[in-house]
Amino acid sequence: MKNKGLKYSSLLLLLLASGTALMAQESAKKISTPDAFDWVFHNIILLVGAAAIFGAVWAVIYLNSKILEIQKIKLLKEHGIEVMEEVKLLDKEPWWKRMYDKSWNLVPLEKEKDILLDHNYDGIQELDNVLPPWWVAMFYGCIIYGFAYLGYYHVWDIGLGSRAEYAVEMEYAEAQVAQFLSRQADQVDESNVEIITDESKLNLAEATYLANCAACHGQKGEGGIGPNMTDKYWINGGNVNDIFKTIKYGVPAKGMIAWKSQLRPSDMQNLASYILNMQGTNPPNGKEPQGELYEAKEEMGMK
Ligand code: HEC
Repeated sequence: MKNKGLKYSSLLLLLLASGTALMAQESAKKISTPDAFDWVFHNIILLVGAAAIFGAVWAVIYLNSKILEIQKIKLLKEHGIEVMEEVKLLDKEPWWKRMYDKSWNLVPLEKEKDILLDHNYDGIQELDNVLPPWWVAMFYGCIIYGFAYLGYYHVWDIGLGSRAEYAVEMEYAEAQVAQFLSRQADQVDESNVEIITDESKLNLAEATYLANCAACHGQKGEGGIGPNMTDKYWINGGNVNDIFKTIKYGVPAKGMIAWKSQLRPSDMQNLASYILNMQGTNPPNGKEPQGELYEAKEEMGMK
């Protein structure tokens, strides 16, 4: 029974270990550093949680095996078979008590006189106890850790120094900020769309316009199947919100498709700005005005 419990717990340990290793890889990829210390530092709560879960599962398995053992002994006893193990099982101190005693290695009271040193100052005497094993273990552990640390960071240069680590983290944070901002840009809708003046974004919009819109609205916005974009007349409204809305939802009944499934909100914002920039450019072959006159107010500083 005990063996089975052991088998289960080692299986669990293996699973846990491989899971942790996988996650370590994952996060290492993210911050592009193989620094295991770092990983432990960032995931300490996860590790403690995993240890607690493992401990709980182990305790249940252990308890279960003990209960079964007692049942077995009872059963054998009923059939008149005496089991020596019973004594061992019930008399044995719990493992943690044994561990605790071992970790202190104290001399029992009745044997204390054997280690009493023979000096005596005003009745104060001294016992020649050995150093507690837990203390010694920590002492050597620290030395081993020290060497491992030295090797890891300074001899083989596997771990990143503070400066490099800072740089890596800043790079990671910058990437996250950029990701966040790009997601923010895609939060744009017809209620909060703004006119973009950024040259590079307008250039992007020009490419999108020529690829998707020029066929109907003309290379220079002069109009064709679709209306002229360079005059002050608009069928569906001429401020940036209206234009964004027309691009997004289209006017399907009149041949202007909805672009919301093909263009990202930030693209449509750029396009709306690009179109507004065409105002007053007066390209040749301009289509006659359609819709109503829309006078640009101070909200757009357009030409
Ligand atoms: C298949 C032809 C076609 C394509 C391609 C097209 N449009 Fe249109 N567009 C139209 C038509 C037709 C209208 C007029 C709709 C109406 O009468 O309400 C229009 C209207 C518009 C309007 C409103 C004009 C106004 O006077 O209110 C905007 C803005 C616009 N399109 C932008 C775009 C953008 C940006 C693209 C490219 C992403 C695009 N269109 C691609 C045909 C097209």
